[in-house]
Amino acid sequence: MNIVVLGPGAIGSLWAYSLHQAGHTVALYSKQEHDKLPLQLDGNTPITLANNQPVSLQNADVLLVTVKAPQVIPALEVLRIDLHPDCIVVLMHNGMGTAEIVASRLPNNPLVLATTTHGALRQSRHQVLHTGQGSTQLGGYNSKGNQCDFLQQVFAHALPDVYWNENILDALWLKLAINCAINPLTAIHQVKNGQLADEAFKPTLLQLLDEVHQVMTCE
Ligand SMILES: NC(=O)c1ccc[n+]([C@@H]2O[C@H](COP(=O)([O-])OP(=O)(O)OC[C@H]3O[C@@H](n4cnc5c(N)ncnc54)[C@H](OP(=O)(O)O)[C@@H]3O)[C@@H](O)[C@H]2O)c1
Repeated sequence: MNIVVLGPGAIGSLWAYSLHQAGHTVALYSKQEHDKLPLQLDGNTPITLANNQPVSLQNADVLLVTVKAPQVIPALEVLRIDLHPDCIVVLMHNGMGTAEIVASRLPNNPLVLATTTHGALRQSRHQVLHTGQGSTQLGGYNSKGNQCDFLQQVFAHALPDVYWNENILDALWLKLAINCAINPLTAIHQVKNGQLADEAFKPTLLQLLDEVHQVMTCE
């Protein structure tokens, strides 16, 4: 398939490299101005991918968006004009609220949401480390996206394990709840994730989850 990765940071580079190794034609859209970018995963052989080429976008079967949530709408806005209406748009990021806007701005494109527990760390602009083996869930957001379950095999072939989840929003809410609990507390107290199992953190964790639960219930 022709796949464009928008936002080749840590997670985007991991997927770009893996999809390329699985035999797909992968191109990048990044904030860098060069027409080609080198990319290396761990100590593997470096590859070179096209960058910011409108023709890659016009021919793309899949646009994998791996920028962070607040960057999704501005990044897509610039590309919208060159995006084919049949191109499947896959949003892979933590956080909520982008899918509704993307669906309204790209009403004809199949829209798929993804969440991953792989760990990736950008060692330098052109080298990414796969720091943690995880799994990825994909699921349709709109009716055309619901018909894209074949993507499970495409993505699984590149970077297993991958599951198709008919209720992908549940998976995203769960990830959000986990992040609401773990991210602030580990940062504030400068502790590792596992230390939050300590009894001392329980009251704060319960308060945080109660608040997330209230928001989920309203939604
Ligand atoms: N890293 C992980 O292990 C991991 C694991 C699971 C989920 N996630 C989630 O995946 C998402 C991405 O995380 P990440 O760690 O990969 O972040 P990241 O390394 O910062 O990657 C985001 C990339 O998007 C680029 N970008 C921003 N705006 C752009 C634009 N308008 N056009 C093109 N490219 C643009 C950034 O470029 P600049 O760097 O030049 O600004 C950066 O390279 C986040 O939601 C994160 O929570 C990450």
